[in-house]
Amino acid sequence: MINDRLNDLKLNREIFNIFARLIREKCGLFFDLSKMYFLETKLKKRMAERGITDFITYYNLLKNDYTDREFKELLNEITIHETAFFRINSHFKTFSDYVLPGLVARKNDSGSLYLSFLSAGCSTGEEAYSIALSVFEKMKEFPQKIDFSVVGIDISISAIERARNGIYSENDLNSVPENIIEKYFEKVDNGFKVKDFVKEKVVFRYANLYKKEDIELIGRFDAVFCRYVLIYFDELAKTKLLDNIYSVLNPGGMLFVAPSESYNVPENFARINYKNSIVFEKPL
Ligand SMILES: C[S@@+](CC[C@H](N)C(=O)[O-])C[C@H]1O[C@@H](n2cnc3c(N)ncnc32)[C@H](O)[C@@H]1O
Repeated sequence: MINDRLNDLKLNREIFNIFARLIREKCGLFFDLSKMYFLETKLKKRMAERGITDFITYYNLLKNDYTDREFKELLNEITIHETAFFRINSHFKTFSDYVLPGLVARKNDSGSLYLSFLSAGCSTGEEAYSIALSVFEKMKEFPQKIDFSVVGIDISISAIERARNGIYSENDLNSVPENIIEKYFEKVDNGFKVKDFVKEKVVFRYANLYKKEDIELIGRFDAVFCRYVLIYFDELAKTKLLDNIYSVLNPGGMLFVAPSESYNVPENFARINYKNSIVFEKPL
């Protein structure tokens, strides 16, 4: 019955615009008219769950709920979670060959060897675990004892739950070398599970990168990976998000963005051209 009524419902430009504006205000994600059908399908899916048969009632539910409970459910639907272990392999090579040794050398001067990393827009966890595995692999080359943590944040609660689970299919592990799988994953019934000693170093949390108050609470970091997130934002929202990231980087901390996103990084970051990739530094 509800589905019959929803089937006949079509989003028009005006209603599309009010939803697009609300989503942008709440989390920075930008939907242009080419996404109208996509958004219509996702809105109708959520409306069916809630037993709502008109767009304006659903809009009011999203707008007036200060807990954002329904908005978070909608976010699970409209966020894109494409990711992979060691995505942009050259970034992880630069991280191991230059960024980590640089951070260790500087921290050593200051006597503290605790390093903190952020996967901002971590999706289902592959990026955060790739950071942890890179640190584990590199750690043995340093004479000092290194301790570290990785925080993964995302606005999709369903993605975070999968990340916390840490179970991946054989296909998901395509980009992971065999010796790394052997060391850091264990075979379970439904795939490969990240071993506990790795999971102990990685935490996943809900946080909205667009909200300064969320970001301020998550800590301070020596390197941030924020890749393939900015592409979903418009120019103004990108600036705000990068400003939020700047505020959580320690002085001398490094930012990785996807190559196509590097044009958006403002000049308060220093641009460093390493052999394999460009990285952005918050000046000391
Ligand atoms: C395409 S995935 C990229 C995952 C990973 N960074 C990578 O490069 O493989 C983009 C992720 O950013 C998240 N995201 C989008 N807007 C966000 C926001 N305002 N705050 C936190 N995460 C956000 C999405 O939920 C999604 O999981």
